[in-house]
Amino acid sequence: MKAVIPAAGFGTRFLPATKSQPKEMLPVYDKPIIQYTIEEAVASGIDDILIITGRNKRSIEDHFDKSYELEQTLQKAGKDRVLKEVRKITDLVDVCYVRQKEQNGLGDAILQAENHIGDEQFAVLLGDTITKSKTPCTKQLIDVYSRFEKPTLSLKEISTDKLNKYGIVGGSQIEPNLYKINHLIEKPKIDEAPSNLAMVGRYILTPDIFDKIKETEPGVDGEVQLTDALTKLDEVYGVLFEGKTFNIATRFDWLKASIEFGLEDAERDELIQYMKTFID
Ligand code: UTP
Repeated sequence: MKAVIPAAGFGTRFLPATKSQPKEMLPVYDKPIIQYTIEEAVASGIDDILIITGRNKRSIEDHFDKSYELEQTLQKAGKDRVLKEVRKITDLVDVCYVRQKEQNGLGDAILQAENHIGDEQFAVLLGDTITKSKTPCTKQLIDVYSRFEKPTLSLKEISTDKLNKYGIVGGSQIEPNLYKINHLIEKPKIDEAPSNLAMVGRYILTPDIFDKIKETEPGVDGEVQLTDALTKLDEVYGVLFEGKTFNIATRFDWLKASIEFGLEDAERDELIQYMKTFID
């Protein structure tokens, strides 16, 4: 399966950090956010990735490109461990790029993938969202997609105060972790939300979504919303994601994710000791 990774947004909620560098390239602990996303795609069996980029996004292309000079320098210096890490990035998968000329929203970003995708189902992984789970989030969706062959999204239960920050769905629960969706609304007012189930940045879509996006008028924030295009589809499934998600929209999201991944490091105990110094 092919995957599309939208990464062309301005990242305005994370300014000034995102003024001259893409939000997707900010490191969470030891690697850029988008590298986690690509690693999830690869671990889910995806072998063809299209990143939607825009202005100021050259560093994304550089990061996944081979750097002969750097590799030679590391080799000469005998820095084998770092060399292996650097090579791993380019060896992950082949990545293609297409530019979204105007930042008209997530729906519009996905529309840029139409020629590359053609007539096949495809995965979408938001480039500013990291997931952490035993079975990769995208793989969980692919497994459900293979049963129904209909668009399938990942869902997470969120607290009421966050409902107006996400795309929210309503529908009927058909299995413990599976919903048939009949209502989607982008960033609803709290009293208009059909449930507390939020879409968390991973989708398997069918190519008919492209025509639906073309029929979609700009919605919330004046942007062409993927959520609005999804409402035009007949049958959509939602999978309650088993794992953690980190949508890195703000500096606080970023900080929490960095701590989470820092706690996986060999220096975990040192980090815990450091954090304890803030208590009392
Ligand atoms: P977000 O809305 O969370 O990111 O989009 P943003 O627009 O960059 O951030 P804010 O709202 O200004 O703070 C989710 C993902 O979709 C991409 C973003 O790069 C991000 O990875 N996106 C968003 C696009 O590719 N194009 C767009 O027009 C909008």
